[in-house]
Amino acid sequence: MIGLARIGILISGRGSNMIALADAVRAGRVPNAQVAVVISDQPDAAGLARAKERGIETLVVERRGRKRAEHDREIIAALNERNIDLVCLAGYMRVLSSEFIEAFRGRILNIHPSLLPSFPGLDAQQQALEHEVKWTGCTVHFVDETLDGGPIIAQRAVPVSDDDTVESLSARILEQEHELYSEAVALVLNNNHRD
Ligand code: GAR
Repeated sequence: MIGLARIGILISGRGSNMIALADAVRAGRVPNAQVAVVISDQPDAAGLARAKERGIETLVVERRGRKRAEHDREIIAALNERNIDLVCLAGYMRVLSSEFIEAFRGRILNIHPSLLPSFPGLDAQQQALEHEVKWTGCTVHFVDETLDGGPIIAQRAVPVSDDDTVESLSARILEQEHELYSEAVALVLNNNHRD
């Protein structure tokens, strides 16, 4: 990858990982990169306003009862129009179509609040509590056709306390997510740079 890598971030809600990543890029902790656009499938995603405040272009691509493939095609077009090199899913709560994965093969990253392959899918923190594990954590991985099953880039372990609730555990994991995502993006871009 020559020049600035253009990152597109997909969100559905709060967008705290998106903000942490955007701030890390701005602070130079992800060299040779810029966050070019933030796209949400939810018009009321809180993260949109926070991205705008930082001067980042935002876009809402609503699902509006359309089929996944059609919705994804609109997002693919928006990403291509902006010459996006790397797509980061940050609390984007939709499974991507195979067409999307193919269009950006090897260039889509996701962050998940567990030590994959444990606890894929929804409610990862709740799953960790139900299984009474003593450690859980977070994972950044490449997105492929498997649900939360693509190649792992980076992980952080987080201890679980006996008195943890979903909220307290989620907050402890989230702190680590905020550091891990930018480290993983820097790693990926650095490797591509050397190719
Ligand atoms: C994060 O904990 C992220 O790992 C998780 O949703 C939260 C989004 O928070 N993602 C998933 O569970 C994906 N399966 P954020 O909007 O504040 O970044």
